[in-house]
Amino acid sequence: MIDLADLDLFTDGDPHEAWRVLRRDRPVHWNATGGDTASGVGPSGFWALTRYQDVHDAYVDAGLFSSRWGTVMGGSHRRDADSASGRMLIASDDPQHRLMRQQVHRAFLPALMDRARRVVRDYVNAALDRVLKDGGGDFATDVAPELPAGLLAAMFGLERRDALHLLALTRSMIGFQDPRYHSDSTPPAVLVSSQVEIFDVMMDLMETRRRAPSDDLVSILLGASINGRRFTEDEVLYNCLNVAVGGNETTPFTASAAVQAFMDFPDQAQRLLDDGGLLPTAVEEIFRWTSTNAYVQRVATRDVELHGQLIRAGDPVTLWNASANRDEEKFPNPDRFDVRRTPNRHIAFGVGVHRCIGMGAAQMEIALLLKEIVRRGITFEPAGPPARLRSNFMLGLTCLPVHATVAQDAS
Ligand code: HEM
Repeated sequence: MIDLADLDLFTDGDPHEAWRVLRRDRPVHWNATGGDTASGVGPSGFWALTRYQDVHDAYVDAGLFSSRWGTVMGGSHRRDADSASGRMLIASDDPQHRLMRQQVHRAFLPALMDRARRVVRDYVNAALDRVLKDGGGDFATDVAPELPAGLLAAMFGLERRDALHLLALTRSMIGFQDPRYHSDSTPPAVLVSSQVEIFDVMMDLMETRRRAPSDDLVSILLGASINGRRFTEDEVLYNCLNVAVGGNETTPFTASAAVQAFMDFPDQAQRLLDDGGLLPTAVEEIFRWTSTNAYVQRVATRDVELHGQLIRAGDPVTLWNASANRDEEKFPNPDRFDVRRTPNRHIAFGVGVHRCIGMGAAQMEIALLLKEIVRRGITFEPAGPPARLRSNFMLGLTCLPVHATVAQDAS
């Protein structure tokens, strides 16, 4: 029996095989979760859409599939909406969502992104220098976190040390079910304590920016308004959290999975090292291949039939990006990592009104990393077993030991 809520599948199993079976046999799959409902009235399970076209169409029909209940399962077992509902981009529906998004978008304009690019480049170069000097290291902890740390430092106006601290907090919040993050505590306690601490950090930042506004995200949101009224404190807080979590968790896991892919497909690594002109297609293939944000959740707002299955109003529906991006109907030879793949209309960032607002930032970060790898002619080789994050929401490596060497003629 396939169970997409079974986290062992994501640490020790082969979720891609499970998705392949679901795409073929049960494209609208009811995944029971054993009757464990928080309120006792919600459905004990969720629907899983795994084919590219179905996932795509569900994203686009935001009136039928609402975001108000939050996009991470957990909220799915309750009838009541996510606590951030209507106040955080990702947990809102239009028109409120659109009005908030216009404001948050101001933090992704070229001036701030240019600064972010410079900071990310400095952090990544310093980390690569350290790893090369040592002949290798743990890519997942020694290099990958520098990408979001650089972005965060620029977007929130933080020192590197504070950016790394915030990163550690969001990481334990998202990875709270992974033993790595709750060795001395229970998973729910880790979730709550990291959330509380993140809110404290954000509240402090808000206080500082109120006194001395700058051009960072917090200052932008403190000055933002919707239809003539200022953003509430909750709206500022929740949207800062949304950007911090969105930016922190995704790109480092993508970067580590990219290095793993280059080690699994050394011909593709060599192809890119030989021809840096392949960088744009290689970056998109990395997003398709890794699909770090495995799924998003929606809730059906009315009854709808899909492939002969009745989805009832109020049912949680999960859209599996990671499966859609390996759909054999959409991508020829989908299990081949191909840095020249084109066309490559992957949906790693979602589609429609909620499409990732940080997509440009993520592309900048991964392109920057690849550019440095190509420029220096770095080759990675495995130096030990990798470890996967215990999560079905974020597909990530928590540990990736590598040997790193530079080709003689590139040094
Ligand atoms: C590899 C990198 C990334 C991936 C795979 C990714 C994936 C996604 C996906 C699938 C969504 C759509 C959610 C939905 O429809 O419910 C999304 C939304 C979002 N992402 Fe990303 N993301 C990435 C990087 C980033 C970065 C770097 C940031 C911020 C700096 C960010 C911030 C956000 C925010 C704020 C939203 C909510 C947008 C909205 O609801 O309008 N993401 N992301």
